[in-house]
Formats: sequence, C-alpha cells, structure tokens
Amino acid sequence: MKEPILSALNQQLNRELYSAYLYLSMAAYFDAHQLKGFAHWMHMQVKEEFEHAMRFYHYIIERGEQVQCLVLEAPPSEWSSVVNVFEAVLHHEQDVTKLIHTLVDLALQYKDDATHKFLQWFVAEQREEEFSAGQVLKKTKIAAEDSDAFVLLDQELEKRKI
Ligand code: FEO
Repeated sequence: MKEPILSALNQQLNRELYSAYLYLSMAAYFDAHQLKGFAHWMHMQVKEEFEHAMRFYHYIIERGEQVQCLVLEAPPSEWSSVVNVFEAVLHHEQDVTKLIHTLVDLALQYKDDATHKFLQWFVAEQREEEFSAGQVLKKTKIAAEDSDAFVLLDQELEKRKI
C-alpha cells in the first residue's frame, strides 16, 4: 500500500476512535444529568464508532500493513444544552463525512481500487449517520419547548437497539 494511503487510513482509524470518545463524553454528560435515554443513545453511538475504527484496523491488517495507534485528544465534557449536544453531533458527523470523501479522493489519486471499494461502505454510512443525527436534533429542538415531550423523547431514545 502506498504510504500516503496507509497514513490516511491510520489517521481515520484515530478519528473513528475519537468519535467514540466524543460520544462517550456526551453519554457521561447525559448520565450526569439523569437523562437515561439520551445517555443510552450515546452509548450505542460509542459502540458503532468503535466498530467503524475496527473496520479500518482489520482493513489495514488485511493489506499486510501495521496499524499505528496515534494520540487521542480529550473531547469536550460540557455543553450548554441538550440541543447544543446534538448540534455538535451533527457538526462532527459532517466533518467525518468530509474526511471520508478526502480519503476516497486519495484512493482515486493513487489508483488504489481495493481502498476505494472499502471506503464505499463508509460513504453510505456517513449519509445515514448525518440523517440520524439530524433527526434527533430536530426532535430535541421541538422537545426542548415542552417538558412532557422531552420526557417522551428520553424514553424513545432509550429504545435504540443498534
Ligand atoms: Fe464513524 Fe459517525 O462516523
């Protein structure tokens, strides 16, 4: 594998781990505020991001290369409101989408067909991730105006299975 591709894949593995760490911090924020459903939704998100990281891990290994574990920075731990948390989620996912598209461009530039094919799963996944974050953000904005709706939304989010 060409070095720039390997380096970018290792960096993306780090970004997926950072995503898990960011969502863990958001789960901790919700747990601290006794918002069990919101916390549960974030814990599911943590698992998903760890799985994304492991997809990169296994792909790098399958290509006969060694994974490099890079420094993981600390995520924020405070937000101004529940709405603000989900605005940050959507913004973060939009940033990740840009990183994936940059990786796709790099794979094309180096004519690395296997990596290009591998990344297509992430292109589709990011579309879904942005949609899902946007949906929860919309619901949270509506629920923020009405305490009964807010309790119902917390209960709804607690039902997330995957
Ligand atoms: Fe793995 Fe939510 O991006």
